[in-house]
Amino acid sequence: MAANEWRRVLVARRLFPEVVERLRAHFEVDYREEDEPLAPALLAERLQGCAGVLVAGTERIDAALLAACPGLRAVCSMAVGFNNIDVPACTAHGVLASNAPGVLTETTADFGFALMMATARRIAESEHWLRAGHWHHWTVDLFAGSDVHGATLGILGMGRIGQAIARRGAHGFGMKVVYHNRSRLPEGDEAALGARYLGLHELLRTADHLVIVVPYTAQTHHLVGAAELALMKPTATLTNIARGGVVDDAALAEALRERRIAAAGLDVFEGEPAVHPGLLAVPNVVLTPHIASASLPTRRAMADLAASNLIAVLTGGMPPTPLNPEVLGGRA
Ligand code: 8YV
Repeated sequence: MAANEWRRVLVARRLFPEVVERLRAHFEVDYREEDEPLAPALLAERLQGCAGVLVAGTERIDAALLAACPGLRAVCSMAVGFNNIDVPACTAHGVLASNAPGVLTETTADFGFALMMATARRIAESEHWLRAGHWHHWTVDLFAGSDVHGATLGILGMGRIGQAIARRGAHGFGMKVVYHNRSRLPEGDEAALGARYLGLHELLRTADHLVIVVPYTAQTHHLVGAAELALMKPTATLTNIARGGVVDDAALAEALRERRIAAAGLDVFEGEPAVHPGLLAVPNVVLTPHIASASLPTRRAMADLAASNLIAVLTGGMPPTPLNPEVLGGRA
């Protein structure tokens, strides 16, 4: 690659203009100001001559793409979840990959909690009913849901966002917090959060409100399917702000239809933006279009962090949030 090609980067989708300007101070920027993600072959084509790319969680960066783009040195994502990036393949190709942890934790936890509350208290379902002109009189059990305060909050995945949700539940709403995670938290952290560790099945049996926040990997694919849903209380709610594919959406739609659990709140879907027709057909589910991190300040911070990673990698610095820092060797 010619030396000047180190200066060319692709911004793969529409972003905040000030972030693109920041990049322009360092690089020749190919800014693709569009919202549709690029098909893999077109992305590979567009990346020819680029040393870096700024992506979201929607662009697939796999071994085939990396092989087709030998000049690529940095793949910087503005998402915290990186199941769209094959990190070992990046390492094998000498490509630094980065994600955007930390900056979205509190915003995403706010949304997870709000979605859980909307689900428990049937806010979306009752609003649709009101708009449709059905409200003629007060009724003793009109849209009666379940309580959030004092209930048992089950958190599946106790990383940064899971812990931020636990704090909201325990300290704000007097909830009993139980959790399951690949590895148990240190005792001191459990005590500070007021959280008790349970095995997965025990968590499913115990939770009044289950919130799912695990990363999507081969191990967490359909972690919650028909057998797991069958363990939950019929009065329980399930909220998924993790990734589509962690929950078996077809099994969930069936459980909701048969009222085997009370309700669900979903921000992520298998095969999104397509939504399983069974989920669209039932009233006891709140559906949102993958917006848990979508406050403007947070989305700006996410894009800014991705830009900081890209600038650092390609100008000889140390990126703030690398996924495979070993690629940079002794760089300090
Ligand atoms: C992003 C997310 O909006 O950060 C993540 O992992 O799921 C969301 O915050 C999305 O991935 C951006 O494409």
